[in-house]
Amino acid sequence: MTKTEIRHFLRFRDLDRAEFEYLFGRARIIKERFKRYEKYHPLGDRTLAMIFEKASTRTRLSFEAGMHQLGGAAIYLNTRDTQLGRGEPVEDAAEVISRMVDIVMIRTFEQSIIERFASRSRVPVINGLTNEYHPCQVLADIYTYVEQRGDIRGKTVAWIGDSNNMCNTWLQAAEVLDFNVHVSTPQGYEVEPERAGLYGTAHFESFADPMAACRGADLVTTDVWTSMGFEAENDARAKAFADWQVDADMMAVAAKGAVFMHCLPAHRGEEVTAEVIDGPQSVVWDEAENRLHTQKALMEYLLLGRIEK
Ligand code: CP
Ligand code: NVA
Repeated sequence: MTKTEIRHFLRFRDLDRAEFEYLFGRARIIKERFKRYEKYHPLGDRTLAMIFEKASTRTRLSFEAGMHQLGGAAIYLNTRDTQLGRGEPVEDAAEVISRMVDIVMIRTFEQSIIERFASRSRVPVINGLTNEYHPCQVLADIYTYVEQRGDIRGKTVAWIGDSNNMCNTWLQAAEVLDFNVHVSTPQGYEVEPERAGLYGTAHFESFADPMAACRGADLVTTDVWTSMGFEAENDARAKAFADWQVDADMMAVAAKGAVFMHCLPAHRGEEVTAEVIDGPQSVVWDEAENRLHTQKALMEYLLLGRIEK
């Protein structure tokens, strides 16, 4: 493969609508086969390197287990144990790592770090979360919606809370897949369209009142008040976000059949009540499980292209 043919998944919009539709179909097939214990090893002898600069449970597990289930191997690297943590340039690391493995997943801080790595990588690079984006999570979330409720086109997603990496990715996904996002953040934490990587503002609407954002929504979602790397802002955020807690009243004004999602880990009693996250509208466990199936479809696609069987 030449460098120009390599496909990365660094931002949600790196793939188009047709590719997402293919991936949703593929994830369903891969999931069904897995549930039937059918062996499927298209990535035999392929290796995934996973570089983590932040903590993770789901991302590490789903990529590592996923690669194993596809017949390949995964290597876990964290910055503390590698030369990256001692100042080796990202570009040098990319040159070396991408000569030794077939695909790379990175969880890091600024988006610019993963972009720099990808610019020097000989193999596909997947964003496992940056300060700006979390595309693998939104891929799994939308697949979960499609699986349980059908096409997301034209639907309304309510985003309650911080305009963080998850919010930015939902907004980008709305442009790619043509749905709407109602965003409600506290004052001072509003969406920055440029940082979110948006073409415009046509697919989202801002609401000062979180309850108003939830009215009629088909999917209500939130995330932690303080993301990894921003812990110094904990106290200020706890005060600012106190009214941005998804509760039963918010779910009651959403559309009939609306689902609740959270990328996890969650803080019950902060961004969501226990009643909602542990209640009947919550699909958070399916959402977490679908990280595994959608990322298997993604890795298969980035390495092998479209599979017709
Ligand atoms: N949702 C998610 O990415 O979880 P981890 O931080 O556990 O990987
Ligand atoms: N916004 C959260 C997501 C964790 C999966 C964070 O970046 O910490």
